[in-house]
Amino acid sequence: MQRGLFGLLAAAAFCWTVLSAPSAEMAASAGTRLPQETRYVALTFDDGPRASTTGRLLDGLRERGASATFFLIGEQIAGNEGLVRRMKAEGHQVGNHTWTHVRLQGAGDAAVRREIGDTDDAALRRVLGDGAYWVRPPYGQVTDGQRALFSVPLVHWDVDPQDWKLRNADRDVQAVLSHVQPGDIILMHDSVPASVDAALRIVDELEAQGYEFVTVEELLALSGVTPEAGRMYHSAHEAT
Ligand code: NI
Repeated sequence: MQRGLFGLLAAAAFCWTVLSAPSAEMAASAGTRLPQETRYVALTFDDGPRASTTGRLLDGLRERGASATFFLIGEQIAGNEGLVRRMKAEGHQVGNHTWTHVRLQGAGDAAVRREIGDTDDAALRRVLGDGAYWVRPPYGQVTDGQRALFSVPLVHWDVDPQDWKLRNADRDVQAVLSHVQPGDIILMHDSVPASVDAALRIVDELEAQGYEFVTVEELLALSGVTPEAGRMYHSAHEAT
């Protein structure tokens, strides 16, 4: 029912666009393709910041007008503060990937609080100031009992090219392009040089297909999703 109404509205909007367009453009647009809604997608990078690779990725994203989300390892931030400031200044979302990249499942509550709290307080807030730093748990997992420990949303992914293992830009690109759909959250690692190459090629290819790269927070907002603390977001369409 909702879908039917939406289709009707979309058709009406299309007709209005065509009718209101100058005649030359009308012929072109009516004859070639339907108007396309923007396809939003979120690229996410884990395990940085790294002095050797993250700067090159930030340069490439800036050239392409693409936003991304970075989940940082707390103990790697000292010495890389400039990269972290650039992320925020250039419109990216910065998040928390624990202090030591520990597997949270099986860790005690005090350890979880310390891994998240130290990264927030000793690193992210010290460099970027106060903020809500969303969490990506290493390996994407927390127990149901641990969810109450988090005061921010948790971020998973639904496209995983296994780039940290493949370390092969061609295969990364193919793995992402063959799976990606609007609303997806893509997992990559700016700690791997081949992943930086692949990510920039993925941006080029998908921007040519009409995709726009936004942060995870923007992706959810654009999709009408209100993020909740302790809930795990896999895409704009799926949360657990
Ligand atoms: Ni990781």
